This record gives sequence, C-alpha cells and structure tokens, in this order.
Amino acid sequence: MDMYKGYVVMLCAFLFIAVLSACGSEAAVAHDEADDQLHMTNNDTAETLYKNQCLSCHGVELEGGRSGPGLQHIGSTMTEEQIAAIIANGKGGMPAFGRRLSESEIQSLAKWLSEHH
Ligand code: HEC
Repeated sequence: MDMYKGYVVMLCAFLFIAVLSACGSEAAVAHDEADDQLHMTNNDTAETLYKNQCLSCHGVELEGGRSGPGLQHIGSTMTEEQIAAIIANGKGGMPAFGRRLSESEIQSLAKWLSEHH
C-alpha cells in the first residue's frame, strides 16, 4: 500500500513538472510573437503618425525640403532620445508635439526615425 502511495506521489510530481515546463515554453513562444507584433505595429504606428503630423514639412520620403530638413539619415546623427526630445519640445521652425502626441506616440516616432541610417 505504501509503495502504491509513493508511486502516486511520484506520478503527480512528474505530471506537475511536465505541465509547468509545457506552460513555460508556451509562454516563451507567446512572448516572441508579442515582440514581433510590437515591432510591426510600432513601424505602422510611426509611419501613420509621420504621415499625419510630419510629412507636410519633412516630405513624403523623409527627403525634407518642405520647410523642414531631410530625416532620411537621422539615425546616424541623432540618438532615439535626442529625436524624441526634438519631437516633444520642437526646435527652431519645428513646432513642439509634446501636447499633441502621447509619450508612446513620440517614442514610436523616435524609435522608427532612429532606425533610418
Ligand atoms: C511646421 C513644419 C514641421 C513639422 C510639422 C515637423 N517638423 Fe520637424 N523640423 C522642422 C524644422 C524647420 C526643423 C529644423 C529645426 C532647426 O534645426 O532649427 C525640424 C527638425 C526636426 C528634426 C531634427 C533634424 C535635424 O537634422 O536637426 C527631427 C528629428 C524632426 N524635425 C522630426 C519631426 C517629426 C517626427 C515630426 C512629426 C511629429 C516633425 N518633425 C514635424 C519642421 C517641422
């Protein structure tokens, strides 16, 4: 009888660990997918924001010339933080967007622009 109990306890422990590790790996996969989605939607969000808010001065292809400088290689001259600061506070002829855009919208734009080298 005791032997049998011991066997059941072992089996339970084994099942428990098996379930735990299955959950663990599922969570890891879900996390990767979430990361990918985040990346895609960040670029989509940033491009939409850019079209609505920035294109009129910085151009359709970030080429500049419409009263704003080109931003095609902005990632080579500025960090993400510097870009975010300019978007939020403005600079020279550029209006501040700190009140018009949310913090996360500014971050999306800054991250997306900083990837343009
Ligand atoms: C009304 C026109 C206008 C709009 C709209 C505008 N900008 Fe600008 N932007 C400028 C001008 C002008 C400068 C140059 C400022 C200076 O250096 O004195 C500038 C500079 C910048 C710079 C720094 C570029 C550099 O090389 O120094 C970044 C980054 C930038 N803008 C991003 C954005 C983003 C992102 C948006 C949209 C949220 C935006 N701008 C909307 C006019 C504009």
